Parts: sequence; structure tokens; C-alpha cells
Amino acid sequence: MRTPIIAGNWKMYKTVSESVDFVRELAPKLAPFSGVERVVCPTYLALTAVADALKGTPIHVGAQSVHWEAQGAFTSQVSPAMLKGIVEYVIIGHSECRAYLAETDEQVNKKAKAALAAGLKPIIAVGESLEQNERGETAAFVSAQVRAALVGLTPADMANVVIAYEPIWAIGTGRNADGATANKIIGGTIRATLIELYGETLAQSVRIQYGGSVKPDNMAEFMAQPDIDGALVGGASLKVNDFVALVESAARTKGV
Ligand code: PGA
Repeated sequence: MRTPIIAGNWKMYKTVSESVDFVRELAPKLAPFSGVERVVCPTYLALTAVADALKGTPIHVGAQSVHWEAQGAFTSQVSPAMLKGIVEYVIIGHSECRAYLAETDEQVNKKAKAALAAGLKPIIAVGESLEQNERGETAAFVSAQVRAALVGLTPADMANVVIAYEPIWAIGTGRNADGATANKIIGGTIRATLIELYGETLAQSVRIQYGGSVKPDNMAEFMAQPDIDGALVGGASLKVNDFVALVESAARTKGV
């Protein structure tokens, strides 16, 4: 049984003090749902303060990106070694990083490898554009993104990898994929690709999230799908009550 994982991607929202206040309120409310892994991904600036505020709670912390080099002349970047000890997870390949920061498949792969080598757990995001979706290219494109992201990753690495399927046209738009369609890509394309790469047993153990306009009122639809193991959530993770409702819905729907 794969443990469901709900990660809040806060993007460029919340100051340090807002982030700390938020998790202080959130943590006790999420405490009862121990069958669901719960992760918050604040801005870099708030990571240390949030990690400190969450010490002794079951809530995990993730970063929103990472560089692949250990150190160097890379203005604005943060290395895996710098994140180690503060965060457990790191989002890699988010479509906003791919679109606005020109993150390539090759860089996603380098970042994933570097994160894993430092003991961090990557949440690797993939997903097609609206145009690709309308042209019927979703399966081929998403499968290729997954393959490119995982080049050189060993079966042992895969135990620490989470994949997030986020159709770009569903992110922040209020226009979510329906549960069955998302499950078809997650199971029929992403998990099928993992089976080709790593075999059935390992592929069945990897957690794959859905992301894109996930809200308390559509969460159960996604969590009811057999291949969807949680959600990567932007907007709805910025409100305490919505975050709690998402986790509560995952716990109830998955029966954990
Ligand atoms: P959204 O963002 O939930 O606001 O659509 C999801 C994401 O970008 O991870």
C-alpha cells in the first residue's frame, strides 16, 4: 500500500512570519491524519523558520527547487547540501520553473540526481500544455518527460522519488482534469513507463500525485482513483482550513 502524500506548494506566497504563523495553526489540525504524509513547501527564505516551527510534529518540509551543483558561482541558486538538514523533499521540474526559468528535462534529471545524492527526496513534476493535450500528445509527451527525468536513477533511488502529474492547463486555472482522466495518465502512462523502466513491483511502489486546481471539493474524486497517491497543491494549500480539508479527504477516501 502506497502512503498518500499531500504537498502544499506555496510558490511565491507568504512572508517568513506568515509562513510560521500558518504552520503553527496547521500542524495540530493535521496531526490526527497520520496515514497521510503531509508536506509544506514554503519559499527558500522561510524554510529554516518553518522547519524549526514544525520540529516535533509529523509535518515534513520541502523546498520548491534546487541546483544540481554542490556549490559555485551560480548567483541566486541553492544547493542540495544547503537544503540538507532543513528539508526532506524538493519539488523539481515544476511547470512554472520549466516555463519561466527555462528549466530543461536535462536539468530536471541533474537536479533529481543531485537531490537524491544529498539524501533529499525529489517530487518530480511533469505535465503537458493545453495545446499538446488538444493535439492528443499527452501520453507521449508525459512519458518522455518521465524517462528524461529518471535517466540514471537506480531502483534504490526510486524508493525516494515522488512524481507529480500536473497538466499545465489545470494549474491555477480552476480547470482541473477529471479524476478518471488524470488516473488514466497516471496509471496508464506514468506508471506504465515506470514498469518499462523498473519492472512491475518497483513501479507499483512509487507514489504519483495529481496536481492542478485541486480543492477540497474535488479532492475525493482524485483520491478515489487507484493510481493517484496524493496531490501537489498550490492555491488551496495557502489556507489552513482548505489544507486540512484536503488531507482529511485523502485520509477518508483512501481509508488510512
Ligand atoms: P494549483 O497549483 O493547485 O494552484 O493549481 C498546483 C501546482 O502548481 O503545484
